[in-house]
Amino acid sequence: MRLLVTGGAGFIGSHIVDAALARGWSVRVVDSLDPDLHPRPPLFDPQVEFVIGDVTDAATVDSALQGIDTVCHQSAKVGLGVSFADAPDYIRNNDYATAILLAAMERRSITRLVLASSMVVYGEGAYTDSETGLPARPGPRAEADLRAGIYDPRNPETGDVLVPAMVTEEAPLDPRNVYAASKVSQEHLAAAWARSTGSAAVALRYHNVYGPRMPRPGIRPTPVSLPCSARPWPGVRRRGSSKTAPSGAASFTSGMSPPRTSPQSTRSPPEEALAFVPITSVRTRYGRSVTWPRH
Ligand SMILES: NC(=O)c1ccc[n+]([C@@H]2O[C@H](COP(=O)([O-])OP(=O)(O)OC[C@H]3O[C@@H](n4cnc5c(N)ncnc54)[C@H](O)[C@@H]3O)[C@@H](O)[C@H]2O)c1
Repeated sequence: MRLLVTGGAGFIGSHIVDAALARGWSVRVVDSLDPDLHPRPPLFDPQVEFVIGDVTDAATVDSALQGIDTVCHQSAKVGLGVSFADAPDYIRNNDYATAILLAAMERRSITRLVLASSMVVYGEGAYTDSETGLPARPGPRAEADLRAGIYDPRNPETGDVLVPAMVTEEAPLDPRNVYAASKVSQEHLAAAWARSTGSAAVALRYHNVYGPRMPRPGIRPTPVSLPCSARPWPGVRRRGSSKTAPSGAASFTSGMSPPRTSPQSTRSPPEEALAFVPITSVRTRYGRSVTWPRH
């Protein structure tokens, strides 16, 4: 397997790189090394081929796809942004970049994609009315409620605090901010690409992920957790199954369960025990050079 991980220097992407290397796969990363996210050089196993470049740049992406079988698309502008003025940046890094990537994959006849989506595509998630037990679409959370420690949203019709329920994969999409809208759009682009090219795409709707290398300080590090509800890719066999799903359709999966750690991941060595080397100065075949400290 020759895997390209976009955003592979990021929090989740770097764990995917480790997991792929552990399986003996050959791994290439393309990452712009956004200076806001990477004030220090990322740590990488020297086996990883690193391309410093932007996924919005067609020439960079085209080069980075040389010899690749499968793409794991993690790069994105993540979070809620400061204001609506950030909208163009979300669309550029998330949707325009995805369109550039998928068009380049078509040119190179690469037919397998895993897309990092998010549970934010479901908005606030599923809730039921506390009185009737019937499903209710939550209203926006009020600041006063949050200050009072009331974190569940209210029924906009009755004002009652709603009761959280399990979100199924069939739940309606309800993106409520620009980031969420950009993740829905990424999914639709991937589905359109899969239908148009007869390729296979899986979108994983991660819940909030936490663990080593997470960008936000102050939370106790624990092993990264990814949702486990993935369906097999179209045309690819589920482990232990003799059935092969039909090819040509996109299969989208969700993960709404809270972060959990597998027995294997809890045995992960601490960060400092890993034999990674910091990248202090990089010159790549495809991208530009970067040295630290950044200016
Ligand atoms: N962290 C979470 O809790 C969470 C939850 C749901 C979904 N996701 C999704 O998972 C994916 C990975 O998230 P993360 O938390 O690891 O993010 P991250 O910010 O840690 O990593 C993203 C990486 O992508 C790179 N990048 C951004 N724009 C780029 C571009 N245009 N070209 C090349 N590289 C670019 C950044 O430099 C960074 O290294 C994202 O698609 C995100 O939307 C994350």
